[in-house]
Amino acid sequence: MSVPSLTADQQAGWRDDGYLVMPDFVEPSQVEALTARVGEMVADLARSPGEAATIFSTTQKSHAQDRYFLDSGDKVRAFFEEGAFDDDGRLLVPMDRALNKLGHAMHDLDPVFDRFSRTPQMAALAADLGFVDPLLVQSMVIFKPPHIGGEVVCHCDHAFLWTEPQTVTGFWFALQDATVENGCMWAIPGGQAGPARTRFRLEDAGTTTDVFDPTPYDMDLLVPLEVQAGTLIAFSGLLPHWSPPNTSDRARLAYTLHIIDAAADYPADNWLQRGADLPLRGFV
Ligand code: FE2
Repeated sequence: MSVPSLTADQQAGWRDDGYLVMPDFVEPSQVEALTARVGEMVADLARSPGEAATIFSTTQKSHAQDRYFLDSGDKVRAFFEEGAFDDDGRLLVPMDRALNKLGHAMHDLDPVFDRFSRTPQMAALAADLGFVDPLLVQSMVIFKPPHIGGEVVCHCDHAFLWTEPQTVTGFWFALQDATVENGCMWAIPGGQAGPARTRFRLEDAGTTTDVFDPTPYDMDLLVPLEVQAGTLIAFSGLLPHWSPPNTSDRARLAYTLHIIDAAADYPADNWLQRGADLPLRGFV
């Protein structure tokens, strides 16, 4: 990895735009190591999809699907695209085309992702971005398979990982080139200056979304962040971002890590909660 001591331009970009694009942050050998590990996990799932096959065998949003998601904050679970399984739990497409994501504690439970996510370079970048006591709260492998990976509607991550004050920051690592054709991330530069318009949270046995401002994001303000494999996009939890469907023949594999500051309050009604046996940790 390169040493992420931010230049004055990068600091200004972070402050003004709400994100930083850092090409070659990840060395090719690390991209290969993560991609190989993902390949092993996909092969394991293909051999034995386990409970996921049952839970995703219906396209109806079910209580079981909700629990499977809400209990995944301290686990590594597989999430599938709509229609990946038939009603009997049989896979309808190859496993690497069926997966939407893996999450949400890869960085604590998988040694390869743990090593990747906790490096002095990563810690230095977080410090440069203002973190005093960073905690790694969430990680995901995002597949975005060719012709199948769907749209992710425009949102900001603070809406899903709330802290008081707002501290959540996303580190998004391209493991394959991301372009307009295969559904790269788009963002609204400067959009982090506004507050979150919604908040997704636990309520009773389920979830709810508080709407503070029903105004839709202005999609005309989005700019595409086309990047090569090995690029890190660091972005504010308030930055509105979006990604279109992958209409190309090329996969768009990515790894994301979300960081919060321990000094901020992490509400008990955030969807992502940890069991006592897996407390949140920082970069060491
Ligand atoms: Fe997001």
